[in-house]
Amino acid sequence: MKKRVFTTRTLILSVSVICFVTAILLLSSFGGTENENNSVQQDQAKGLKDYYKDFFPIGVAVSPTNIEGEQGELIKKQFNSLTPENVMKPALIHPEENKYNWEPADKIVAFAQANGMKVRGHTLCWHTQTGAWMTKDAQGNQISKEIAFARLKEHITTVVSHFKGKVYAWDVLNEIISDSASTTKIYRETAPWYKICGDEFIPKIYQWAHEADPNAILFYNDYNTENPVKREKIYNMLKKLLAQGVPIQGIGLQAHWRLDDPNEQQIKESIDRFASLGLKVQFTELDVTTLGNRSDTTKTYTPEKEMKQTEFYKMAFKVFREKKSAITGVTFWNISDRGSWLDRGGRKAYPLLFDANLQPKKAYWGVVNF
Ligand code: XIL
Repeated sequence: MKKRVFTTRTLILSVSVICFVTAILLLSSFGGTENENNSVQQDQAKGLKDYYKDFFPIGVAVSPTNIEGEQGELIKKQFNSLTPENVMKPALIHPEENKYNWEPADKIVAFAQANGMKVRGHTLCWHTQTGAWMTKDAQGNQISKEIAFARLKEHITTVVSHFKGKVYAWDVLNEIISDSASTTKIYRETAPWYKICGDEFIPKIYQWAHEADPNAILFYNDYNTENPVKREKIYNMLKKLLAQGVPIQGIGLQAHWRLDDPNEQQIKESIDRFASLGLKVQFTELDVTTLGNRSDTTKTYTPEKEMKQTEFYKMAFKVFREKKSAITGVTFWNISDRGSWLDRGGRKAYPLLFDANLQPKKAYWGVVNF
C-alpha cells in the first residue's frame, strides 16, 4: 500500500514536472519564432543603403523609365543616391546649340528629391556622347579655341545653374587621361576638346562649374584607375590642378571591374593615393562583369561565375568599409542583370547584385552580411 502511494505521488510529480518543462520550452520556442520573424522581416525591409548607413551613400545609375514600377520600388528600398545614366550628358541635355532638353533629367531629380536621395551629375565634359555641333562650325570644320571655350562655358554654366541646389556633386570632366602604357602619353589626344584646346580647357571648366554652383562638389571621373601607370597620370594631373588652386574636390573611380581584376591591393592603393591629395573618393560606376574575353562564349551565369563574383564583391566592399573615412559614395552602374550597358551582341554580363527578376543574388548577401 505504502509502495503504491509512493508510486502515485511520484507519477503526479513527474507529470507536473514534465508539463512545466514542456510549457517553458513551448513558450520560449514561441518567443524565439517571433524574434526570428522580426529579424527576418527587418532584414527584408532593409536595403543596401540601410546596411551601409554608417559608411557611405549607395547609389545607382538610372534612366527615366527605370524609376517607374517595380524597378522604382527596388530603387527606393535599396539606394539613396542616383546618377542619371545618360540624360545629363551633353548630347542628350544639349542636343542643339540653342536647345536644352531638361525633362528627362528633371524627372530623375524630382524622383530623387521626393524620396530623399542624393543626385550625382554626370557629366559636363566628355569626348563621347557630345553633340557634333559643339565642336564643329556650320561647315563641319573644327571650331577655334575661343569658340570652344565660349561653348563650354555656356554649356556648363547653364546646366550647373539649372540643377543648382539639387545636384550635390558633378563629374565635371570624364576620361581625359590616356590608356596608353607609355608614361609620356598623358592625355586622350583624340578627344575633340583636347584637339582644339590642348589641356587648357581643364582648369577653366572646373572654374565655370564652381562659379555656377559654389556648393557643388566637383569630381574628375575615370576608369582603369587601378592600373598603376594610368593612376599616376591621373594623380599627377590632379596634383598639378590642385596646386594651381583649381576647384576640384573629388575623384570618381568608375570601377568597371572583372572577376579577376583589379585585386584587393590595387584597390586599396588607388584609394590611398587619391585620398593623399585631400580628395574625396567615390566609386561612381561599379559593376563586375562575368564575361571573359571574346573566347568566353558562355551565355549563362554559371555556378563558378556566381562564386567568383560573390567573392569579388565581398572583397571590394570589405575594402570600402575599411577605407570609409576616405570614401563618400559607392554607385552601381545600372540596377540589375535585367539590363546592363555591358550586355552586348547576345552576351550577358550579369554584373550587378540583383538578378533579372530583381531578386538579390548571392553577391548581394555577401555585401550586406558583414
Ligand atoms: C554608358 C551608358 O551606360 C550607356 O547606356 C551609353 O550607351 C554609353 O555610356 N563610362 C561612363 C559612363 O562614364 O557614362 C558610361 O555610360 C559607361 C562608361
